[in-house]
Amino acid sequence: MDSSTNTKPQEATVIIVGAGPSGLATAACLHRLSIPYIILEREDCCASLWKKKSYDRVYLHLPKQYCQLPHMSLPQTCPKYVSKKDFIQYMDDYVARFHINPLYRRCVEAARYDGAAGKWRVKVKNGEELYVGRFLVVATGESTDPFTPNVEGMSTFTGKVVHSTEYRSGMEYRGMNVLVVGSGNSGMEIALDLANHGANTSVVVRSPTHVLSREMMHVGLFLVKHLPLSMVDWLLFKLSEIVYGDLTEYGIARPKEGPILMKAKYGKYPIIDVGTINKILSHEIQVLPTVLSVRGSEVLFDNGRSYAFNAIIFATGFRRSTNKWLLGDDYLLNENGLPKPSFPNHWKGENGLYCVGLARRGLYGAAADAQQVADDIKALI
Ligand SMILES: Cc1cc2nc3c(=O)[nH]c(=O)nc-3n(C[C@H](O)[C@H](O)[C@H](O)COP(=O)(O)OP(=O)(O)OC[C@H]3O[C@@H](n4cnc5c(N)ncnc54)[C@H](O)[C@@H]3O)c2cc1C
Ligand SMILES: *[C@@H]1O[C@H](CO)[C@@H](O)[C@H](O)[C@H]1NC(C)=O
Repeated sequence: MDSSTNTKPQEATVIIVGAGPSGLATAACLHRLSIPYIILEREDCCASLWKKKSYDRVYLHLPKQYCQLPHMSLPQTCPKYVSKKDFIQYMDDYVARFHINPLYRRCVEAARYDGAAGKWRVKVKNGEELYVGRFLVVATGESTDPFTPNVEGMSTFTGKVVHSTEYRSGMEYRGMNVLVVGSGNSGMEIALDLANHGANTSVVVRSPTHVLSREMMHVGLFLVKHLPLSMVDWLLFKLSEIVYGDLTEYGIARPKEGPILMKAKYGKYPIIDVGTINKILSHEIQVLPTVLSVRGSEVLFDNGRSYAFNAIIFATGFRRSTNKWLLGDDYLLNENGLPKPSFPNHWKGENGLYCVGLARRGLYGAAADAQQVADDIKALI
């Protein structure tokens, strides 16, 4: 690796890859323990997912006490559900408060453990810069690479196609027939936004999904600390049934397994309803089944029907390409860049390798990982 580099390697105890909430939380925890670190970020700002790749109306889905980073609370003035704008301000304040100085436009393209030196050697795009550290923290997020599935005939589609990360607002879709593929929270929120802006909106719901309100989710998260999971799931199931009724005839069936179990077992989140369900009940938003193929403007669905659309929005999530740059790790991360060891052992690998924010536990999980990683490093040096 050294032969291709012409600048002197920069060294610190810890190298953190990614300056999203997870990387920033790790940096703050290390800072408080006076452990030197370098934080490398491929974009030109911190929290790039929030600043550049999320739509305008997004609010955090969880109450603020589950969304704050370690050692600094969200301001008193913020409401219970924090807006995107306020959360970005909070992260900028967090960076200032803990004197975090990410190195921007540094896309990590190779990291390898040098057993002889007992250090990680981290190469940044264009091969000109090398960073060396005894510990390496992967904080590149669960949402690294936008994922769009292959749909037969997609290249013939005559309308506009975007991934949810490129969607900003329903304004530009007024009066259009728009199909949202993907019924996770991004898909459901985008569908609502489109309908609010006067687009004729349809959303694809492929499999049975739980629908909970934010309050139900809040209650569930609280109770699960004190009661057996199966009991909490039963309660949430009943609450959802009472509030939303049977949505099967609208195209949304309720799964047999409970919402918290499904989140833990398959990483499948319930729909946290912020108003979309009402619009489905009033037929302002149509629910459609799996997409089979596309031809011109027509999209064919699994129920044999086809409709014409002016635009398709893929809210089909993300993949991670960590295995392209993290070399020689057989223990911590799988092909898809997620931890192999299950919770609560998901955060620590071998040879000083760690990951933060990859266990599908949201900001709350990331904050806990960051503290744990910093404490572990402190104990080792
Ligand atoms: C629209 C939207 C709404 C969300 N709402 C919530 C919510 O309400 N509550 C919640 O808990 N979670 C929510 N999330 C989940 C979200 O993943 C987390 O909130 C949070 O952003 C995760 O932080 P992170 O630092 O782990 O990952 P990210 O925020 O994705 O940050 C990772 C950083 O690593 C950088 N990076 C990636 N690869 C490299 C590389 N090779 N070299 C250098 N840098 C690299 C990226 O550019 C990025 O800046 C939401 C996500 C989205 C998209
Ligand atoms: C709205 O979209 C649905 C489903 O694609 C379609 O059946 C309906 O005709 C559309 N309505 C209008 C007014 O275009």
